Amino acid sequence: MATTLRKEDQEHLEILRSLESEVGENLNFLGSVDKIWQPSEYLPDLTGEDWREQMQDFRDQAQTISDDLLVILVGDMVTEEALPSYAIQLNLIAEDEEGNSPRPWAKWLRGWTAEENRHGDLLNAYLRLTGRVDMRSIEVTIHNLIANGFNPEGYPDPYNGLIYTSFQERATKISHGNVGRIVGQQGEKNLSKICQKIAGDESRHEAFYTRMMHKVMDVDPEGGILSFRNMIRTLIAMPGRLMYDGHDPDLFDHFAVVAQKSEVYTIHDYASILTHLVSTWDVANRKVSGKAAKAQDYLCKQGERYSSLAEAVTEHLETQPKRKFSWIYNRKA
Ligand SMILES: [Fe+2]
Ligand SMILES: [Fe+2]
Repeated sequence: MATTLRKEDQEHLEILRSLESEVGENLNFLGSVDKIWQPSEYLPDLTGEDWREQMQDFRDQAQTISDDLLVILVGDMVTEEALPSYAIQLNLIAEDEEGNSPRPWAKWLRGWTAEENRHGDLLNAYLRLTGRVDMRSIEVTIHNLIANGFNPEGYPDPYNGLIYTSFQERATKISHGNVGRIVGQQGEKNLSKICQKIAGDESRHEAFYTRMMHKVMDVDPEGGILSFRNMIRTLIAMPGRLMYDGHDPDLFDHFAVVAQKSEVYTIHDYASILTHLVSTWDVANRKVSGKAAKAQDYLCKQGERYSSLAEAVTEHLETQPKRKFSWIYNRKA
């Protein structure tokens, strides 16, 4: 692989390589293929004699989901379906040049990709079978998102691969968990179960990435803290932000407004994730000096800063009008 990494990025990569044995010891954060759930367990069995009844029952329940939640579910599903982009990015860490390397980082990346792939598959099949969404428009959105690619803030610093995934796995855990809870209240028990299952996976993934970044902070607190600060100087970019259905150039923002208004994923959640990571990685007590000490100070104030912004942001979002979404045949959400 041609490398154009800056000197500090190269050093970061070497530290990540030095953590290989820890990665190997933590591969059990992946479920075993024999025991882990698969999408078909949560969908009607179309091979059964009673497939008509199963489908009818499934679709009746899916009728209870509000349009707002349907839009959020589509946005979440599109984000999950763009998984190939994220796997390409993380190969920066895994350095799997052949594609089947037996080394721990490469094993983790492939195992993680395989688990994530089920999320997109299950939500895709679920939505298709409900008959409530415009699948072609959703497919165009997924196609565009993968083709557009993805460059999270702070790349190509390899530490940011871990910081970013620690953040995003927690964010998706919260978001799927909330969708599951709300649709459950609306009467949709199948989807509620599906979302809780997916949130459970995100929780294991979060634990792995957070633990590995903790090791980095132990070995290289200055580098870790500076990378973390660099990443959150601006809002952490969401992986789905380049989604496009061919109609609405601000599709991601409009989806994010619905998620915020429905309290599925809000600025409060963003603030709470930052606060959680700062405290889990024990940022405040790391012995650092110079630039890193300033970054340490900055990081410790961020949760509070976002919490104080939250009210204004929430008020602003509440005033946003409902928008048409092609995903639900231009009904508004
Ligand atoms: Fe996922
Ligand atoms: Fe995940």
